[in-house]
Amino acid sequence: MNEIRIAPSILAWDLGDLERAVEISVEGGADQVHLDVIDGHFAPNITFGPGTVKALRPRCDLKFDTHLMIDGPQVYAEKFLDAGSDLLTFHAEVLDGKSFDILHGLVRSKGKEVGLAVKPKTNLPKWAIDRLDKISTLLVMTVNPGFSGQAMDMSVMPKLQEISKLVEERGLDTDIEVDGGVEPENVHEVVKRGGNVLVAGAGVYAKKDPVKAISELRTKAMDSRKSL
Ligand code: DX5
Ligand code: ZN
Repeated sequence: MNEIRIAPSILAWDLGDLERAVEISVEGGADQVHLDVIDGHFAPNITFGPGTVKALRPRCDLKFDTHLMIDGPQVYAEKFLDAGSDLLTFHAEVLDGKSFDILHGLVRSKGKEVGLAVKPKTNLPKWAIDRLDKISTLLVMTVNPGFSGQAMDMSVMPKLQEISKLVEERGLDTDIEVDGGVEPENVHEVVKRGGNVLVAGAGVYAKKDPVKAISELRTKAMDSRKSL
């Protein structure tokens, strides 16, 4: 089982002050910064693009975990890599085996990591199961993409467990990232089903003390892990 990692989603902070959002992640000891890119087509919101990722890059050394909720990621993947993304996560809903292979080749040629995400109602497609060893992070969405601050959809839990089991059976060290509505109250449900990378938007940035919220999530997750 991979170590617990906390990935604050800066979408939940004041979008006019993303520099502070990144600083909070650093001060709180986060492992990676989760950057939600939404294009208004794949999901009903528009956030930011490669220019913002590039502008934030010199402001911290944390891993940039870029979650591309966009149609046609082929058009933008290289731009996000050049902007400083370390992990580029694509949605399974807009790919097939062939287009995944091309993107995988591109990301790996730059020495970066490939993630694959699924929306709450999407099962891991066969082409992805056949390519599991090429995916460093499987991102399981527990809200419909678009906005921070939604409640976690607990009906996704059986799928989370199945995906974790599949990874374990194959003997892979794939990170299982859970994204959407993560709060201290549900961390145990996620960790006990194999989630190890916890994305938290409102669960960090809407708290009174966001810096402290990061370590509190970590403590909760580690305690859950120990209790298993
Ligand atoms: C949803 C994004 C999530 C979201 C997380 O479209 O992918 O990363 O911002 O925010 P919370 O934790 O508030 O659900
Ligand atoms: Zn996300």
